Amino acid sequence: MRTVIRCDDPEVDPYRWLTSLVLPRPIAWISSVGADGVANLAPHSFFSVACAHPPIVSFTSVGDKDTLANVRATGEFVVNLATLAMLELVNNTSARFAPDVDEAAALGICVEPSTLVTPMRVTDSPASLECRLHSTQTLGDSTLVLGEVLAFSVREEMLVDGRPDASRLRPLSRLGGNLWGLPPDPVAVRRPVQPDEIV
Ligand SMILES: Cc1cc2nc3c(=O)[nH]c(=O)nc-3n(C[C@H](O)[C@H](O)[C@H](O)COP(=O)(O)O)c2cc1C
Repeated sequence: MRTVIRCDDPEVDPYRWLTSLVLPRPIAWISSVGADGVANLAPHSFFSVACAHPPIVSFTSVGDKDTLANVRATGEFVVNLATLAMLELVNNTSARFAPDVDEAAALGICVEPSTLVTPMRVTDSPASLECRLHSTQTLGDSTLVLGEVLAFSVREEMLVDGRPDASRLRPLSRLGGNLWGLPPDPVAVRRPVQPDEIV
C-alpha cells in the first residue's frame, strides 16, 4: 500500500513533500555582495551540481531574497560548505535581516577575502566555491541560479592525497521541516565501470 499525494490537489503543499522526500540536501552557505557593497550570507539547501565541464553549480532562491538580488547585481557569489559546528550560525543567518545588514558582521562570523571574486568566504568553512553567475531561470515563484565555479578553495586538512575527503569535510545537510542531517557515514563501493567512464 502507498499513500499517493497528487500535486494538482489544491490542499497539497508540494514544498513540504519535496523537502521531506528529496534529502539530505547539502547546504550552500552563500556569501554575496550588493551593488552598494553590503555583504550578505544566507543558507540555501536547494543546491546541487549542474554541470562538470564547465563546472557549474545551482541554487534556487524561493522568492526574491537579498542573495538573489546581489548575485543579479554583481554576477558573483561564493558557496561555503557548512559543518555541524556551524549549525547554529548557519541557522541564524537565515533570519530575516534587512538588506543593509551584513549577517556575518552582525553575528560575528569570521570571513576572509576570496581569491577570484569579491564576495568574502567564511574562514572556518572547510571549502568554498567561488562562482560567477552563468544564468538564471525563473521557475514559478522561484529563481534557479546557475553559477560557474572559478575556483575551489579547500582547507588543507580536508584533503587526502590532494583530494577532498568526505570523512573530513563532514558536511551538514537539510532534511524536511526543521530537521538537519548530521555528517554522513561514507562507504566506498566500486562501480561496475572503468574509472575514466565515471560520471
Ligand atoms: C538550512 C536552510 C536552508 C535554506 N534553503 C533555502 C533555499 O534553498 N532557498 C531559499 O530561497 N531559502 C532558503 N532558506 C531560507 C533563507 O536562508 C532565508 O530566507 C534567508 O533569510 C535569505 O537571506 P537573504 O535574503 O539574505 O538572501 C534556507 C534556510 C535554512 C535555515
